[in-house]
Amino acid sequence: MGTHSPWSGRFEKPLDELVQRFNASIGFDQRLAEEDVAGSIAHAKMLAAQGIITRDEAAKIIEGLDSIRNEIRAGTFAFRLDREDIHFNVEGALADRIGAVAGKLHTGRSRNDQVALDVRLFTRQALEQLQGDVLNVIDALIDRAAEHTATILPGYTHLQRAQPVVLAHHLLAYVEMLRRDYARLSDARGRLAESPLGAGALAGTTFPLDREAVARNVGFPAITRNSLDSVADRDFALEFLATTSILSVHLSRFAEELVLWSTQEFGFLIFDDAYATGSSMMPQKKNPDTAELIRGKTGRVIGHLVAALVLLKGLPLAYNKDLQEDKEALFDAYDTAHDCLRVLEGIVRTVTFRTDRMRQATTEGFLNATDLADYLVTRGLPFREAHGIVSQVVLFAERAGKTLEQLTLEELRLISPLFDAGAQTALDVDQGVLRRDLPGGTSPRRVQQALEEARNWWSVEVGRQTAADTQG
Ligand code: ARG
Repeated sequence: MGTHSPWSGRFEKPLDELVQRFNASIGFDQRLAEEDVAGSIAHAKMLAAQGIITRDEAAKIIEGLDSIRNEIRAGTFAFRLDREDIHFNVEGALADRIGAVAGKLHTGRSRNDQVALDVRLFTRQALEQLQGDVLNVIDALIDRAAEHTATILPGYTHLQRAQPVVLAHHLLAYVEMLRRDYARLSDARGRLAESPLGAGALAGTTFPLDREAVARNVGFPAITRNSLDSVADRDFALEFLATTSILSVHLSRFAEELVLWSTQEFGFLIFDDAYATGSSMMPQKKNPDTAELIRGKTGRVIGHLVAALVLLKGLPLAYNKDLQEDKEALFDAYDTAHDCLRVLEGIVRTVTFRTDRMRQATTEGFLNATDLADYLVTRGLPFREAHGIVSQVVLFAERAGKTLEQLTLEELRLISPLFDAGAQTALDVDQGVLRRDLPGGTSPRRVQQALEEARNWWSVEVGRQTAADTQG
């Protein structure tokens, strides 16, 4: 099985050397070796059970595949460029080992349904791994949030100080985003769990294959319903990339805040030395490179999604070699997201929050202005009017160089006679947070409840993952 392989009998010349390299995918699809062997073993077992090959032939094939798998795992398997891709590499190695009977393995099968299965198997495993990674980041966020249900800092809109919130509430916002990402990963995993084997090159096969048996063997609950679709579409890869892109965007936003908060201007947190780096020129620097890279790598994950969408958009049915280009996008998006999640978990677990700086920041910027307006509403004023009055109070305070709570009652009453002693209590930042006591709000009591709800959800999902693991 050299360059001029048995299945290219209709050709009179070997492949051009450049074309051989251009056409080959073994450089990257060797990553599918485990999946390829697993699919082949399932196929061989089924062929024997259906009486298409003998039990003895199947035993020889499976023994050969096992030895190939061992070599692959040990890193000693020699991948050959002249064998183009992972499918021909495994099949060729099998023939080297067991001789002509190896040729029976490909009965009723094409590389087209074979690769469709391999990529699905890889994607399923990748989705599972990312789900576990997301759960770990959520765990870290919940742990850190639990330390800070009473730590007050400014919440922002337009990156301007807006209203005080507690730090746990801020961290739990990311937990919510990650929970939706987790659900999307889970959803994508459910949808791809159909075995395409039996679709053949595009139109199925004349052999009486037991497609369900193969599906069961590789752990898929169902088989695909249309042979053309089975080999032609890669929407499961698109879903993986789309989900991973959305996830990455969430990580990127969080990373951006970590960068921002670590600046001297904010000073809300300090990166652990193990998660920061120095500058080659400026000795004083401690840079948040880890968070910057999480932010930066998001671009490349989104790039892979766009590349895959463009790859598929003009393809006629059924298989086209363009589809070979799906793999590197998938692999790199997976590796990138996997690393980003693990690094982020480490950052979250080790970062030092500067609660003094956070609290200090709530004293400037009139964060309690809404509370003062709300107070006037309790005195009977329509909110719109209260808003107008407090705008004047803010202007007055700004000119006087004072915070709202530094204004005397006399000064307040210059602007509205509705102000009385209660106004000053309304301006207390801690009271303001306490009063935001409704579902989804930032009062420590509500945040404590949200924390418990999140922790319970996490425990259930971790339990599910462990149960799935032990089932194999
Ligand atoms: N290496 C190919 C891929 O990744 C496998 C399928 C090739 N099939 C074919 N008819 N050329 O898509």
